Amino acid sequence: MQPAPGQRKKCRPPAPFDGARSLGFDGPVNPETWSRVDHYLSDLFVPDLPEMQSALAASAAAGLPAIHVSPLQGRLLQLLAQLQGARRVLEIGTLGGFSTLWLASALGTEGRIVTLELDPKHAEVARGNFRQAGRAGQIELRQGPARDSLEAMVAAQEPPFDFIFIDADKASIPDYYRLAMQLSRPGTVILTDNVVRKGAVADPESTDPSVIGVRRFNAALAMDSRVTSTTIQTVGEKGYDGFTLTRVNG
Ligand code: SAH
Ligand code: DHB
Ligand code: MG
Repeated sequence: MQPAPGQRKKCRPPAPFDGARSLGFDGPVNPETWSRVDHYLSDLFVPDLPEMQSALAASAAAGLPAIHVSPLQGRLLQLLAQLQGARRVLEIGTLGGFSTLWLASALGTEGRIVTLELDPKHAEVARGNFRQAGRAGQIELRQGPARDSLEAMVAAQEPPFDFIFIDADKASIPDYYRLAMQLSRPGTVILTDNVVRKGAVADPESTDPSVIGVRRFNAALAMDSRVTSTTIQTVGEKGYDGFTLTRVNG
């Protein structure tokens, strides 16, 4: 994954710099600062890989929402899957396949990904992106409601996954977690995206179905002696949110 020296990404044209004050270093830190720091860091740590660039371009051209993981978060997915030595990866929520391609980049030629997506248009764009990246043989996209696909996988007694990324509709996270556990083994890692929701997760009065979903998920995790979990809040170009990292004990 390390780019050859000539492949190192070019920095963006420098944004006008009008001193530390505008960066928020001496005042309240703001979303503009989060984005600026994200761009600074991704210029350093995330090479401009052609397959990633074309996946994003094709997704944007097809009108998909730009709600994919950021490049730095993609790098984190790759690193976590590598640290885990993952060979079998499950993703819930494909969109155009940007996060899928990051996960795929962590796998050897033996590695396989199953990714679940409801929207037929997203699925079509993602399949095109997998072909374009030369990964079509490694990534199996199952189109339909993720809950149905997961239940079918449990019923078919598919072998457990090493790494599971939950990133679809947030109201259903508790169901996805319950089913993901049935597709896990001791040592499986489950990463769940978008679990802080600009801080709304701490609001017990929230009526937002996504917040309610995450809070039910948290309550289930806290009671579940089969797993160890933590949540890390994040800021960056995607705003203020967070990830939950869960490991199945044993
Ligand atoms: N993981 C992607 C982003 C996923 S966005 C990335 O970071 O690149 C969330 C996706 O979940 C959307 O494409 C949406 O269509 C899909 N989704 C929503 N509800 C779903 C459901 N019930 N089953 C499967 N996918 C669903
Ligand atoms: C949304 C979904 C995501 O997975 C994400 O990372 C950001 C936003 C959304 O549905 O709005
Ligand atoms: Mg997400």
